[in-house]
Amino acid sequence: MNAPKPKYRHTVMLVDDEPGISKAIQRILRREGLNILTAQSGPQALDMLKNRETMISLIISDHRMPEMTGAQFLSQARKIVPDAIRFLLTGYSEMDAIIQAVNQGRIHRYLTKPWQDDDLLLQVRQALEQFELTMENKRLLALTARQNAKLKELNHGLEAKVAERTKEIEQKNLQLSALNKELESSFHNTVRSFASLLQMQTPILAGHGRRVSAMAREIALEMNLEQNETTNIEIAALLHDMARLEVARSKHLIPVSQWSLEDQEKYRQHPAEGQAMVRLIGKLDHVGLLIRSHHERCDGKGFPDGLDRFSIPLGAKIIAVADYYDMVVHLEKDKNEAVIAYLKKKPGAGSMNKQILLKKAAIQFIKENSGVIFDALAVEAFLACLSQKGTAGAREKEVGIKQLKPGMVLSRAIYSAKGQYLLPYDTELSEGYIVRLRKIAEGAGLGPIHVLLN
Ligand SMILES: [Fe+2]
Ligand SMILES: [Fe+2]
Repeated sequence: MNAPKPKYRHTVMLVDDEPGISKAIQRILRREGLNILTAQSGPQALDMLKNRETMISLIISDHRMPEMTGAQFLSQARKIVPDAIRFLLTGYSEMDAIIQAVNQGRIHRYLTKPWQDDDLLLQVRQALEQFELTMENKRLLALTARQNAKLKELNHGLEAKVAERTKEIEQKNLQLSALNKELESSFHNTVRSFASLLQMQTPILAGHGRRVSAMAREIALEMNLEQNETTNIEIAALLHDMARLEVARSKHLIPVSQWSLEDQEKYRQHPAEGQAMVRLIGKLDHVGLLIRSHHERCDGKGFPDGLDRFSIPLGAKIIAVADYYDMVVHLEKDKNEAVIAYLKKKPGAGSMNKQILLKKAAIQFIKENSGVIFDALAVEAFLACLSQKGTAGAREKEVGIKQLKPGMVLSRAIYSAKGQYLLPYDTELSEGYIVRLRKIAEGAGLGPIHVLLN
């Protein structure tokens, strides 16, 4: 019989009070190269197990012995060497007791006397293989547990390290975003300041840019747009007619429809030229797009690109509403289409205060063209701002220079009476600012001041 080479140097314990049987078994097992321990009784064998110096792989015990039966002995041995395989050697007459012992798990197998040598050997080999498997399983389990513990420890260290790094990065990001914000706001202030200087050359249109900018910003706030987008809209509105200055200088009092064809053509180019003027400044790309599209119409009949309602940027749609309103109310083209349409509907309105008439005519025209020329949502937000019912409209009040107090926050930018840009919106007024503003008010004069309500 060729058996696989065992991985262990196995020790087998034989327990029998009859030396003849013990010797017979020893003879068979020696041929297998096994280590053999022998005992004549249960108590002696238990003592040997307690004081053992080697691992015991298999115990073969006779059942019928004085002092302690083999089943009793194996049951106790199990507590001392739980991994050892346990065989009981027995005669046929004791079968009942044996079956019970097997069922209770106290022994693994039983061998009947007399036995066949080959059969005994086969059973012993199988038992030793089972023992080896049990040991291997235990070793692997222990290894896995050790590796798991190590992994857990590593993971814990890693988590702490990641958390530490994340915190560091978050802090850096915070610093960076504060720095970026500062840079951005100073960049935008430069653009605002530059725009005010440029537009001061044509005071009528300069006031237009400022007012459209403030109104467009209110509409954007009313529509809950993101802060970035709101700033883009405000800047684009400020610059939207920048390229019109050239034509405007001589023609601003005459309606566009009465201009020469050449001037009209030039006028139709001002949105694209306005975009070209800011194109050099990379950061104003989106602002440039809004400037380009401020004369587009929802029905696709606008210029320069004839975009449809889905293609016009929302910011441009917002600027278009604010632009139209300001054109009618402040550029005072008495014979413009809005006023004519209004007077046709309400002939008696001709005797009305001029400013009120212009406002009413503008509002009616915008309402009637909601969804045609103008974007319906932008019109809705615009009307909410005008009625002061909207969140944006109800959040500010106009104050005189004498009412200014430190801690007040500007809701709109402050310009000098001549249109020079002085302070951006959202500025918290300090004592120093107020002193300087008073000086300017006494000298060159100041435009209106709006502050946020608490
Ligand atoms: Fe324009
Ligand atoms: Fe305009």
